[in-house]
Amino acid sequence: MKYSRITGTGSYLPEKVLNNYDLEKMVDTSHEWIVERTGIEKRHIAEEGQSTSDLAEIAAKNAMEMAGKTADDIDLVIVATTTPDLIFPSTACLLQKKLGITNSATAFDIQAVCTGFVYALGIADKFIKSSTHKCALVVGAETLSNILDWTDRSTCILFADGAGAVVLEESDEPGILSTHLHADGKYDELLRTKGGLSKNKELLDSGGAFVEMRGNEVFRVAVNTLGRIVDETLEANNMKKSDVDWLVPHQANIRIINATAKKLKISTDRVVVTVHEHGNTSAASVPLALDAAVRDGRIKRGETILLEAFGGGFTWGSALLKY
Ligand code: UT7
Repeated sequence: MKYSRITGTGSYLPEKVLNNYDLEKMVDTSHEWIVERTGIEKRHIAEEGQSTSDLAEIAAKNAMEMAGKTADDIDLVIVATTTPDLIFPSTACLLQKKLGITNSATAFDIQAVCTGFVYALGIADKFIKSSTHKCALVVGAETLSNILDWTDRSTCILFADGAGAVVLEESDEPGILSTHLHADGKYDELLRTKGGLSKNKELLDSGGAFVEMRGNEVFRVAVNTLGRIVDETLEANNMKKSDVDWLVPHQANIRIINATAKKLKISTDRVVVTVHEHGNTSAASVPLALDAAVRDGRIKRGETILLEAFGGGFTWGSALLKY
């Protein structure tokens, strides 16, 4: 039986920080409201000219260094992003070039908004288990600040920029135990950008293709769905809730994270929370949180980790793994 196993994690947050007091000067909001309703204290914003692949490059290098891998070792590059550098080439190809991966590795982007990294991990796991690839670089990277309406207090306080990455390698030892990837397109209007390339292009041209969200409705579906996917994942692996050592959830809102932890009956000190540091970084959020907990020594080799995410589409997914 072949497995895929995470052998390195990395992340990067841009240096420029926007805290809640900065936002008070931009929209009608307050530090207290933002912290109480979301848990977010600050977020990081890419510099002018700093692209998604620039953020991804630093996160990827950190993950490769931890795994002890060079460019030549990587045979699969998947970047999950909703904010690619360009329409094409893919951000994965641009990242491949930046990292000097010249061995004709497979490289492509996937788009599942906030669930993007979990989707990418599930895809990479299947490539490795089918023996076509041995060493994947799986990245979630976003510059969401480019698609925010900075006059809309209901969204601009939530989303931000960042990147996270893992190296996933073929292994005889258990690593990823299962992944569960879902979507339901009927919820498209609750969380979206209205403008695009082949629809409402005028909005894109005029800079009006911003993130729009019916937050309260998204919140309710997110809490219910994340509870269900935890049950689905554990059932598929014949495991109990108490078997999970660490929950690494999508970092959108502390209230959603706490509600999921409560459903899982996992105490909050076994839940990795980084949302206060960087807000909702969409596809980057799960690998950012994972890297933080690996590097500060909370997550240890051999522990059982449950990753979960929920986002636009709607999409949602989970991955259960032995670290
Ligand atoms: O990553 C993809 C998944 N996305 C999410 O998971 C996000 C899900 N949604 C949320 O996290 C929450 O719904 C929000 C944080 C977006 C909003 O929190 P809420 O508790 O659902 O607030 P609400 O939308 O029901 O708004 C409550 C009040 C409203 O005022 P009224 O109508 O009660 O007078 C809003 O206008 O809060 C007001 N409000 C604000 N006040 C101060 C909305 N945004 C702000 C703000 N500052 N930034």
